Amino acid sequence: MAYQVIRNTLIYFSPTGTTRAIAKSIAQGLAINPREFDLTLPGQRGRQVLLDDAEFLLLAFPVYGGRLPVIARDFVASLPKGRRPVAAVVVYGNVGYGDALLELFDLCTGRDYEVKAAAAFVGEHSYSHVLGKNRPNHADKESARVFGVGIRQTLFGNWSVNRESLVRNRRNSSYRDYEPLPKVGFSIRPRSCEVCRVCVHSCPTAAFMDGDPKKIDLSRCIVCAACIKLCPHKARTFADDDFLDDVAIMVANNSDAKTPTTFLPPNLPEYMG
Ligand SMILES: Cc1cc2nc3c(=O)[nH]c(=O)nc-3n(C[C@H](O)[C@H](O)[C@H](O)COP(=O)(O)O)c2cc1C
Ligand code: SF4
Ligand code: SF4
Repeated sequence: MAYQVIRNTLIYFSPTGTTRAIAKSIAQGLAINPREFDLTLPGQRGRQVLLDDAEFLLLAFPVYGGRLPVIARDFVASLPKGRRPVAAVVVYGNVGYGDALLELFDLCTGRDYEVKAAAAFVGEHSYSHVLGKNRPNHADKESARVFGVGIRQTLFGNWSVNRESLVRNRRNSSYRDYEPLPKVGFSIRPRSCEVCRVCVHSCPTAAFMDGDPKKIDLSRCIVCAACIKLCPHKARTFADDDFLDDVAIMVANNSDAKTPTTFLPPNLPEYMG
């Protein structure tokens, strides 16, 4: 169905910042100045989201183990129900997006939302500086912007994303299981650490204890790598040889650069290119 959108809202979770960058580029293409719900830090997730009728939502989340992060899944499942247009976006680390986009589609339709556009973009992998290095790069952001222009067009028409188009290459219709999170410790190079506490304040699950960069409650840690990637002094690393070996294998097996995948109506106006 076609919509007269009166308000636009951007909702994202982005521990290492790539999903945020993609979401902002899409918003640029949409030519909107949306209100934002950045769910990354725990304090921001407590806010109640009230939605107008005919409010457009852009939902953007990273891929974790071929699924959505549990925090993102639970947040979307708690949004108010109602007929409204949404765009569903996932960002993955150049390995694969698995069932994450399908999962987001189903969560949206479970809230009675109509998915008018969907996409999977690539970001530098949380566990590597090589896999998807520096992505989203300029070309990715331009694709995201053009995708935003396309979303704007879909709002005026009757086209919406067909669930089947998201499951086409899959053997069965159930999602892959949530993978257990790796149990990984951290090490800090004492001579590099300036005790600035950026790591402490960037943790999405408040896993640091007593504001101490060295003390982490591993039972709270979702292994998102924000504390490592956002450390301005490169003082932190994961400290687990088996985990790092697995990451090295993953990097070696995924050296081909993936390109964005978008789900939009065919034959959108020419100026989109
Ligand atoms: C726990 C975890 C699991 C991940 N699983 C996948 C995956 O299945 N496929 C993939 O390509 N990237 C995977 N990634 C990488 C992220 O999807 C990717 O780096 C994304 O750009 C991170 O988003 P952010 O910068 O918004 O945090 C995973 C990252 C984490 C932390
Ligand atoms: S962000 Fe890096 S330098 Fe700052 S306290 Fe944490 S480990 Fe130390
Ligand atoms: S402690 Fe764990 S959850 Fe917190 S930022 Fe670091 S990796 Fe992410």
